[in-house]
Amino acid sequence: MINTPNQLSLEWIGTYSAAGQHLPGGVARAITKLSAQRVLSMTAPLNRQFLLAQRPVGLPSRDTFNYVENPVGEPGPGQILVKNAYLSLDPAMRGWMNEGKSYIPPVAIGEVMRALGVGQVIASQHPNFAVGDYVNGAIGVQDYFLGEPHGFYKVDPSRAPLPLYLSALGMTGMTAYFALLDVGAPKAGETVVISGAAGAVGSVAGQIAKLKGCRVVGIAGGADKCKFLVDELGFDGAIDYKNEDLHAALKRECPKGVDVYFDNVGGDILDAVLTRLAFKARVVICGAISQYNNKQAIRGPANYMQLLINSARMEGMVVMTYAPRFAEAAQEMGGWLASGQLKSKEDIVDGLETFPETLLKLFSGENFGKLVLKVD
Ligand SMILES: NC(=O)c1ccc[n+]([C@@H]2O[C@H](COP(=O)([O-])OP(=O)(O)OC[C@H]3O[C@@H](n4cnc5c(N)ncnc54)[C@H](OP(=O)(O)O)[C@@H]3O)[C@@H](O)[C@H]2O)c1
Repeated sequence: MINTPNQLSLEWIGTYSAAGQHLPGGVARAITKLSAQRVLSMTAPLNRQFLLAQRPVGLPSRDTFNYVENPVGEPGPGQILVKNAYLSLDPAMRGWMNEGKSYIPPVAIGEVMRALGVGQVIASQHPNFAVGDYVNGAIGVQDYFLGEPHGFYKVDPSRAPLPLYLSALGMTGMTAYFALLDVGAPKAGETVVISGAAGAVGSVAGQIAKLKGCRVVGIAGGADKCKFLVDELGFDGAIDYKNEDLHAALKRECPKGVDVYFDNVGGDILDAVLTRLAFKARVVICGAISQYNNKQAIRGPANYMQLLINSARMEGMVVMTYAPRFAEAAQEMGGWLASGQLKSKEDIVDGLETFPETLLKLFSGENFGKLVLKVD
């Protein structure tokens, strides 16, 4: 049923009216009026929305969200109405569902689930955005975004396909670029190890490290992903953490130790790589996806004394702190994409209604490349 939301809505109205016939007069009249309003609203487009219903413990599920349909409104002063085209599904969305202090406020219960995405402006009362513009911003898990375009910027579909603005040319690419070059600061000839290497951020970071003359080793789950890293992206080595001994594989692939470790996953993999650090190594904490669905507190690295022993450092990064420099990175990344030196792989899933299940692909490793949800 959820696959055909408009049908679902019509059926829901029918059930509602039928139930009303058995209710006392006043209640029945009120319900009939409500139903009539609902039917009338069907003439305006409906906005399918996923609202945060509860804060998940462990993995989120369909029950984490409340699926609703509401008529699309019109923009007020300073607002725009966007027809959403593609949503970026990010591991960070799991963190946004949690209560508590973070780099960004949590999504409130009852609020539309936050998601970055791209879409087209279809009505505007904002001086900087006109009907027809394509925009990138926090448009939410819904068909239409209506509101003030805080942090929105325009993208040009004639220069690159829209999903690319969510992968290499979007937040994903910006993260890979600044986390690697600014925090990791790799030098030609150094060994760079990347976890979550076949994913959105990891695959871009690894290719940039190759462009900078580094020896690059990726850690990923499964033979297909490892083969892709070496054969398609030109990594020097790959480690299948699901099917081989991590310590032995790190020794094999990194005989001179690890100069830069770009960590996307945390947990056991972070602990294992710490034991292979080279002198003055840099550990970039980009993410810790293995810990995001923990029911207990996040587990920190047991082997952190390796930082002291190797005069190494570990540093976290949040991509938004680099917002003033995004244009600089986009220009360089755009050049690499155009020349074929950088490849971007998107994993596009159809249908807004699949959102709760599609999001889980990030945590099972079923996504292969940047996970994007096509709204229609
Ligand atoms: N700091 C920032 O500003 C920033 C910005 C964007 C993203 N990030 C972080 O970057 C990381 C990658 O994000 P992404 O968008 O590029 O996602 P992604 O790598 O495309 O997808 C997530 C991947 O993580 C791997 N994974 C899932 N559970 C795992 C586990 N328990 N142990 C090891 N690997 C696991 C899976 O790959 P396998 O099949 O290989 O297991 C999965 O495909 C995330 O930690 C995210 O939070 C940080």
